[in-house]
Amino acid sequence: MIEVVGLSKRFGTHAAVSELSLRVEPGTIYGFLGPNGAGKTTTVKLLTGLLRPSAGRALVCGFDVVASAVEAKSRLGLVPDEPFVYPKLTGAEFLRLTGDLYGIPLATQRRRIPELLEMFELSHFAGELLETYSHGMRQKVVLASVILHEPKALLLDEPLVGLDPKSARMAKEIFRTMAARGCAIFMCTHVLEIAERICDRIGIILGGRLIAEGTLDELRRRGKGAALEDIFLELTGGVEYAELLKNL
Ligand SMILES: Nc1ncnc2c1ncn2[C@@H]1O[C@H](COP(=O)(O)OP(=O)(O)OP(=O)(O)O)[C@@H](O)[C@H]1O
Ligand SMILES: [Mg+2]
Repeated sequence: MIEVVGLSKRFGTHAAVSELSLRVEPGTIYGFLGPNGAGKTTTVKLLTGLLRPSAGRALVCGFDVVASAVEAKSRLGLVPDEPFVYPKLTGAEFLRLTGDLYGIPLATQRRRIPELLEMFELSHFAGELLETYSHGMRQKVVLASVILHEPKALLLDEPLVGLDPKSARMAKEIFRTMAARGCAIFMCTHVLEIAERICDRIGIILGGRLIAEGTLDELRRRGKGAALEDIFLELTGGVEYAELLKNL
């Protein structure tokens, strides 16, 4: 379970995240939407302990990510906006490293790693250095690594960027399966169709503040039955460019 209580982060005088409070229950996917620069990635970094909050706190399975960092992180999986991997490791070595870091038994790793590489069509590249992988291939290795260690809480920052349609479909199904097994998933995305399709709850952040939250149906009722795209643009002021377009 993921819980955020009065979380704030300032960079100098700029408030990137302001008094954010939300919960992601086990078995659910929470879609976190917002325009560029709204504070989504900053929230993810606060949830992982990569950034220290200016105020408030973030909890993973009840563990404060600052005060009980190891307990929190051992239960957490992260797919960051940029697929960070060690360039001088091979795909198989990266998965072994992840497995060892999370204490996955060797016998399980020996069985699961080839399966995961096969699933993401990376078997042929398992022995190649990650620096030779394409962006999408690196993204798939990172996804395979979080499936390998089966976190109780999963943070996804634009997880489908760069994936081909087949891999994207598979990733969506994997997220739903992980949720069905009790994982709490927090996903930042700009792809509203994905939010509509796989998220149980949706939060919209603007200028660091949560401005709307609810199930898709609740948001639709607020938006008088409109599509999520219309509700999003209405709430975030995204329709103001119409005047500018006239002058093109
Ligand atoms: N390390 C930093 N130092 C200073 N300002 C930062 C830093 N990181 C983020 N910011 C600022 O915080 C705000 C929120 O950035 P953030 O990366 O969280 O946005 P985002 O919602 O993830 O946007 P995008 O949709 O483009 O990924 C922006 O104004 C950004 O300039
Ligand atoms: Mg971001």
